[in-house]
Amino acid sequence: MPVTINGRSLDFTPGETVLQVAKRAGIDIPHLCALDWAPSPAASCRMCVVEVEGSPRLQTSCTLEAQDGMAVTTHTARTIKARRTIMELLIASHPNECLACVRGGDCELATLAADLGVRQDRYIGVARQHPLDVSSPAIWRDPNKCVLCGRCITMCHSVQGVGAIDFAGRGYTTRVAPAYYDGLNVSECVHCGQCVRACPTGALVERDEVDAVVAALADPATVVVAQVAPAVPAALIDVTPGKAPSIKVMLERLSSALANVGFDAIYDTAFAADLTIMEETAELVRRVEEGGVLPMFTSCSPAWVHYVETHRPDLIPHLSTCKSPQQMAGAVIKEVVPRYLDLEGKKLVTVSIMPCTAKKFEASDQGDVDHVLTTRELRRLLARFGIDMAGQEERRPLDAPFSEASGAGRLFGGSGGVMEAAVRTVYKLLAGKEMDGGPRVAELRGLDGVKLMSVGAGDLTVNVAVVNGLGRLDAVLDGMETGQLELHFVEVMTCTGGCAGGGGQPYSTDLDTIKKRLERMYEVDRRSQNRVSHDNEQVRELYERLLGFPLGEASHHLLHRTYIDRKRVAAERDVAAATPAATEPVASDPACIGA
Ligand code: SF4
Ligand code: SF4
Ligand code: FES
Repeated sequence: MPVTINGRSLDFTPGETVLQVAKRAGIDIPHLCALDWAPSPAASCRMCVVEVEGSPRLQTSCTLEAQDGMAVTTHTARTIKARRTIMELLIASHPNECLACVRGGDCELATLAADLGVRQDRYIGVARQHPLDVSSPAIWRDPNKCVLCGRCITMCHSVQGVGAIDFAGRGYTTRVAPAYYDGLNVSECVHCGQCVRACPTGALVERDEVDAVVAALADPATVVVAQVAPAVPAALIDVTPGKAPSIKVMLERLSSALANVGFDAIYDTAFAADLTIMEETAELVRRVEEGGVLPMFTSCSPAWVHYVETHRPDLIPHLSTCKSPQQMAGAVIKEVVPRYLDLEGKKLVTVSIMPCTAKKFEASDQGDVDHVLTTRELRRLLARFGIDMAGQEERRPLDAPFSEASGAGRLFGGSGGVMEAAVRTVYKLLAGKEMDGGPRVAELRGLDGVKLMSVGAGDLTVNVAVVNGLGRLDAVLDGMETGQLELHFVEVMTCTGGCAGGGGQPYSTDLDTIKKRLERMYEVDRRSQNRVSHDNEQVRELYERLLGFPLGEASHHLLHRTYIDRKRVAAERDVAAATPAATEPVASDPACIGA
């Protein structure tokens, strides 16, 4: 027997909540603390209350499991009044800074308050005076704007498995903070930004670099170039009105838009994804043939790399020594662009446009890139120049020599994409021919938490795994430790869905949105004339003119990196702080195996 919601008879699967069933049916029950992603919502806000026939009390629909014959009403005078009162109490102590807030015009709390008809402050609360935390190179916190919904904590603990932040204090002084009220910069945080993407207010935001980029664009002494990551156009489609274009068309429109605001050249990070595959697959084959450390883990997700460095430094030898595509692109742009563009003595400034907040940390830590804008900041930059994406010309290609990308390179923006691209090239390296049956590797696609497959190539069978979200990592690590999984290569993407669901993407707590972005990436791959990284002509040319060959001397210097045992560094720092005489310098662990 189905559940009845607002008089409509609706089927459900056991375990589904009333909130979920209603959402599927297009009934929007207001909610604040519940998330699509979260295994168990905290049920703290009570915004989602509904009336259930036979029950005198209002019930929270985010925890209420649908049952046979249950009759629910979602928008009665009683539930609307309850929600409105909750909202009035929430905003009573919220700062009156909406006009100057980075969330202005895109604030879930403000939208919900408007939807509930809250037009005046009925209650006057005492404004909080917590200090701001701007210590992190990736994420800023303003606890005064927090409504204590707990979404960020759910994301950090239950989804990401990191646990860098939690509720601290009691009663009126309660706030969300890292342990000991430390800054995020010295906490367990890996800068993934999933808390930011889930926050309904301006309490958590990315470190804003829009002003710095505007200043660089206005400076006559600079040449400013951009690189655009493949997941950015995939998400821009969601927030651009009008008929949804393909990723290719959106990228061309974005290229026009960036040229119109003054960028001197616009490059494609997917080019560097192809370059990454050339280096990473060569490294894998070398490790397999020469008995190196296996399995090798991908290194293109900076929050994952930071997780290894801060939480599991014992895994450092497993990390590929390849820089991420952002950093590879940054390095080759700085090396090659002065030969293509006449800089006339001006300073070259590189800006990367990324779906990710951790890329900000990576750029500040590694160099190679001057500024990182998330997709959200990109939209703010374009808005500042009055650019309407829907009205941009579609035919401005990206700029040589970094404008060409294979379908494989474009797949980097989704979970399993790096591995699918790698499998295509590893197969060619080991078997000496392209994959039978075409390049599509269906086993590695989609949003499953862990994806496994074995690839027979030449005389070898290569076992690979894809970890879709940091919170799913333990399943693979446990399998490795018990010997159940004998793997050669593992892709780890920190965020669910990979960069499609990155912490810098437009605000959304909806898994369907991420699925649509992935589908767009599969489509652009399917329509690509070249679908393998090893046939990217511009990458070939770069090797001929500059790099020589994968893992060669020039590649080693430009495209590979080392790692730091940050856990040990932090422990030594704590000891040094406790014993002022202990001032011995702390060394990093060089782990690069490039030539
Ligand atoms: S950025 Fe990621 S790791 Fe850091 S607090 Fe937010 S969710 Fe946790
Ligand atoms: S910081 Fe944002 S997501 Fe976290 S509890 Fe506060 S309002 Fe909710
Ligand atoms: S959304 Fe259900 S209690 Fe907060």
